[in-house]
Amino acid sequence: RATFLQEYQPPAYFIERTELAFDLYEDYTTVLANLHCLRNADSTADNSLFLHGEELELQSLAIDGRPLAEDEYQISDKGLLIHRVPEQFELSIGTRILPQDNASLEGLYKSNKMFCTQCEAEGFRKITYYLDRPDVMSEFTVTIEAEQARYPVLLSNGNAIHEESLANGRHRVRWHDPHPKPSYLFALVAGDLHYIEDHFHTMGGREVCLRIFVEAKDLGKCQHAMDSLKKSMRWDEEVYGREYDLDIFNIVAVDDFNMGAMENKSLNIFNSSCVLCSPETTTDAGFQTVEAIVAHEYFHNWSGNRVTCRDWFQLSLKEGFTVFRDAEFSADMGSRTVKRVADATVLRSHQFAEDAGPMAHPVRPESFIEISNFYTLTVYEKGAEVVRMIHTLLGAEAFRRGSDLYFERHDGQAVTCEDFVRAMEDASGVDLTQFRRWYSQAGTPLVTVRDDYDAEAERYTLTVTQSCPPTPGQPHKEPMLIPLAMGLLGEAGNLPLKLAGQAPDAETADNTSTVLLLSEPEQHFVFEQVRERPVPSLLRGFSAPVRLDYNYSRAELCALMSRDDDGFVRWDAAQQLALSVLDEIQQQLTDGQEPSVDPLYLDACASLLADTSLDPALVAEMLRLPTESYLAELAAAEGADVELIHRAREALETALAQHAESQWLDAYRRSVVNAPYAPVAEQIAARSLRNLSLYYLACAKAQHIGLAQAQYAAATNMTDRLAALRVISQRGTQQQSDEALDSFYRDWQHDSLVINQWLQLQSAMPGEGALARVRSLMDHEAFDLRNPNKVRALVAGFSNNNSLQFHRPDGAGYAFLAEVIEQLNTRNPQIASRLLNPLTRWRNYRPDRGELMKAQLERLAALPDLSVDVYEVVSKSLQD
Ligand code: ARG
Ligand code: ZN
Repeated sequence: RATFLQEYQPPAYFIERTELAFDLYEDYTTVLANLHCLRNADSTADNSLFLHGEELELQSLAIDGRPLAEDEYQISDKGLLIHRVPEQFELSIGTRILPQDNASLEGLYKSNKMFCTQCEAEGFRKITYYLDRPDVMSEFTVTIEAEQARYPVLLSNGNAIHEESLANGRHRVRWHDPHPKPSYLFALVAGDLHYIEDHFHTMGGREVCLRIFVEAKDLGKCQHAMDSLKKSMRWDEEVYGREYDLDIFNIVAVDDFNMGAMENKSLNIFNSSCVLCSPETTTDAGFQTVEAIVAHEYFHNWSGNRVTCRDWFQLSLKEGFTVFRDAEFSADMGSRTVKRVADATVLRSHQFAEDAGPMAHPVRPESFIEISNFYTLTVYEKGAEVVRMIHTLLGAEAFRRGSDLYFERHDGQAVTCEDFVRAMEDASGVDLTQFRRWYSQAGTPLVTVRDDYDAEAERYTLTVTQSCPPTPGQPHKEPMLIPLAMGLLGEAGNLPLKLAGQAPDAETADNTSTVLLLSEPEQHFVFEQVRERPVPSLLRGFSAPVRLDYNYSRAELCALMSRDDDGFVRWDAAQQLALSVLDEIQQQLTDGQEPSVDPLYLDACASLLADTSLDPALVAEMLRLPTESYLAELAAAEGADVELIHRAREALETALAQHAESQWLDAYRRSVVNAPYAPVAEQIAARSLRNLSLYYLACAKAQHIGLAQAQYAAATNMTDRLAALRVISQRGTQQQSDEALDSFYRDWQHDSLVINQWLQLQSAMPGEGALARVRSLMDHEAFDLRNPNKVRALVAGFSNNNSLQFHRPDGAGYAFLAEVIEQLNTRNPQIASRLLNPLTRWRNYRPDRGELMKAQLERLAALPDLSVDVYEVVSKSLQD
């Protein structure tokens, strides 16, 4: 049954203080909750009290010390209903739970030998009966008791206020968090943990003790996370004026975790893959992920914790804003353009697909069956783009006034997306009425641009139309307010812009870029004194999450690619050019011709590669071909043909490899990094281009595998080692590939996070044997179905990155995925549900494949014990 935004009711009771006492044992845990409750004077509800609770064994229940008789309450699998409660009372609840058997990784569970929690969104109800909703905020005091030898470290939110050793080999620690918080921000950790420690002086003079807790073996992998944390704390002070508000900040790494990390107040819990790193074991991308996620969780302290969400429909209030904040942080720490390209790529290849699929929902959804299914690219990444557009519309200064007002006005409150937008409006005076549709309308708008140049009048006119396709429950869309950043490119560079009817912008001397505001289904923008026919440079910096349609000629794309001022547009032009060439190759293949690649494209790539004045990271991104899954997504309307896509892409890859072989070799040689490894932009850029060159060289000639083998043997960091291994495993002979993979396993079998990369790499290996390899790896000692990182690496790796083999004509790839989903359905529904994603796209493929995909969804739909998580995705995918 679905929950609706429309049905929101404020809580009938508040819990002003929450006292929890945990007694942790190997075969059970007891939780004693003392809840200081108070009726909400504004509520018109009756005087019964319903508390959420799942998988709990109730042991005692009392109000103000008086045990309740059996007829005074009722228990269901959703919670506890107390028929009558006073205006103000202390409710005492004793429950027993089984964390050691909790495979859902939600609530209190065990990972390796430690206890840990994950409560967002609705996991706290698996710990005790509670008003498990974010608009009930409470001051928590938590007492943890456990065996001292096994669990020397006992952590919760806030400050440790009491510690004692008990006679029986057990010990007890009490924590108090002075900041009222909703239950989803509660955390508890108990284990044999070790830490590194550092300090941060806040701008207001507070000395904060920073600790990262890990297993002893991982102590050497914490420094980068610590550095990232300190940078994040400083950045949030400088850019947003936000200061940390307690004397301690703890991070804990756990191996079994459904998502990346969790922003529990002062006790962030991280998937170990998102916090641990070292040059020997972690790639550049891994280092960047750690930096970004540490920052993301830290930034939540204000955008999420101090100001939280009223209900889960408002999830993007904290997630969209926080992703925007972490993206800007990453842009400031590394290369801004490369970060923007990476984010736009994720959006276009995955979020647009979500927006066009059966699970499409607005940034602020209107209903859900299982909230875990709405931790999506739409809520996170599109939500961040919506905040970015507000930043663009207001300008940096007014945006900062808006965020100051938002934090000041709502500190300590649980609020809505509307409250955020209103603060932005109030602080800036900008009317965001129409802009609000970004929160309520699902689907990706299509912006179509046509132009006309009147040489005589030196007038250039852009005609811009917008539309948005229907999505489930939303057949008709209203026009959006879309900021379209643009410029005009002439022969000698970008032209000064003079929009008709607008005074020239006095403030900016360099007026070659502007933001057009699209608000109508069709609009005209007229530029005066345009002395030559320009090439429009559109959607600069990816200024809005829209599809853009303009009929560029290949020559125009080459011009943008080589000369436009905007890095994003240059990259995008290279992508569009590749897409256009790929289209042509597909046509040739369909007509039974030998593919021939337009030399215009190949020459443009070769000169790009030879231009040493450019940022090597951006060059690498420009020369990376679109993925097969993105190409399938683009072909969805006609029904994607996976084999055709694969053959066309291979043909282009080979042509590009061979045409520019000497340039690849030169790029490979010149971008070697001689300095000791550091995850800094300059080195990352060099390695990125070097490893892409290695890949293309192996595509050009089999003998270049020797370069990869030499690089593999000499590598002193994981970036270079894994890149070489990937090339050998994808392009080498069977024997070369087996030898390298075996030697890698022998070297790294002791390090689970490294082995995940080994699993993921193999999941993407080409050839008929791919599925058999993945199946046999599931029986490998290194695999563990209970560990989400391993499942993601191998199973999601295969279904998402091995398009051709996942979409085998016999349907065996789909059957395999469905089998794994079936196994995880009851054990870990969140992961099972996420694995479904590729199958939900069944309508995008040719009917022969689409029907086979659909058949697996139907098989899953018929399972007797279907979890709500899987049910929601499967049933929505099958709806017509
Ligand atoms: N709030 C966390 C973050 O954005 C994600 C937690 C998601 N948990 C879940 N069960 N879906 O970092
Ligand atoms: Zn988040």
